[in-house]
Amino acid sequence: MIARYREFLPVSESTPIVSLGEGGTPLICSPRLGEIVGRDCEVYLKYEGLNPTCSFKDRGMTVAVSKAAERGASTLICASTGNTSASAAAYAARAGIRCVVVLPAGKIASGKLVQAFAYGAKVIAIEGNFDDALVIVRKLGGRDDFAIVNSINPDRIAGQMTAAFEIVDDLGDAPDFHLLPLGNAGNLTAYWAGYRQYRRAGKAATLPAMIGFQAAGAAPIFLGRIVENPETVASAIRIGNPASWKPASQAVEDSKGAVDIVTDAEILAAQHWLATKEGIFVEPASAAPIAGLMKCCDAARGPAYSFAQIPEGSRIVCTVTGHGLKDPEIAGTDSDDMKAVAANEEAVLRAIGF
Ligand code: F0G
Repeated sequence: MIARYREFLPVSESTPIVSLGEGGTPLICSPRLGEIVGRDCEVYLKYEGLNPTCSFKDRGMTVAVSKAAERGASTLICASTGNTSASAAAYAARAGIRCVVVLPAGKIASGKLVQAFAYGAKVIAIEGNFDDALVIVRKLGGRDDFAIVNSINPDRIAGQMTAAFEIVDDLGDAPDFHLLPLGNAGNLTAYWAGYRQYRRAGKAATLPAMIGFQAAGAAPIFLGRIVENPETVASAIRIGNPASWKPASQAVEDSKGAVDIVTDAEILAAQHWLATKEGIFVEPASAAPIAGLMKCCDAARGPAYSFAQIPEGSRIVCTVTGHGLKDPEIAGTDSDDMKAVAANEEAVLRAIGF
């Protein structure tokens, strides 16, 4: 990924590139979402679950870890709701650097926790939430030999801009609207920086409106105040005091975008819908923009941002940020379907419903 967009990234000839083949994810057209929006609009999904550790974090991590290696850092450290830690652990392993991840105890989806252990990170669970973990990491990161690889590290944001570059390269221009989940708010900030940089370079003629969706129980930016005890089924975005609050809000304002909320029920319904109607299985946080798109198209709901204002033929991109297998407990399996039947044709036909 760094090789493809080198001219836009903070790397030099002497930077040792640490890569696992991230980026280059598909931009998948969703005709069924297009139908829901109507007015000849096209909806595309940027499927970031297909990165090496199955989330968008790998784009920022390849740059952050390459730069940390260049500086000779001995230890990478991050706070995480799960995906950053999975990605940091993998890239640290690849670079041969120690990795410490500070996580809210009992709040990490099982697939992500498995990844941190599998890649050999030192996992430290704290009796607190993500926001508490980030406060600790900010303090520890002041040490010379430590490199913080949260998105407060500008190298992370720089790497994540590449998703916007890829979208413009695929569509031939920026989309009209870009929807994504909003947690620590680094990704929305990165996309906006990427779209702007690409336009400055003459690669795009237009800029999208940036629309961020928070979970209703973890919606500090939407509410305009810190949420002390954020709660949502979408554990990736269970954040009450986002680090990139200011730049993300600025991006929303400058792009004439919006921030809205979706409930846990809407998130889970959108996750199920996307898996069963389009064959794309994403983790709950990643379903937030899909839930948001559906909400905004439902005129009866009186949303904060009405897609009734969307011009005919608009192109809408939703970033689906992480793979559904990250959080297997949430999707679950239907227990009736899992009940064993006799091992013969008749029993199987009966079980199918004949
Ligand atoms: N979607 C997923 C799957 C995430 O893991 C995150 C953030 C977001 C969306 C929100 O992105 O923070 O840039 O606004 N996960 C971080 C983590 C906080 O620690 O893995 P954001």
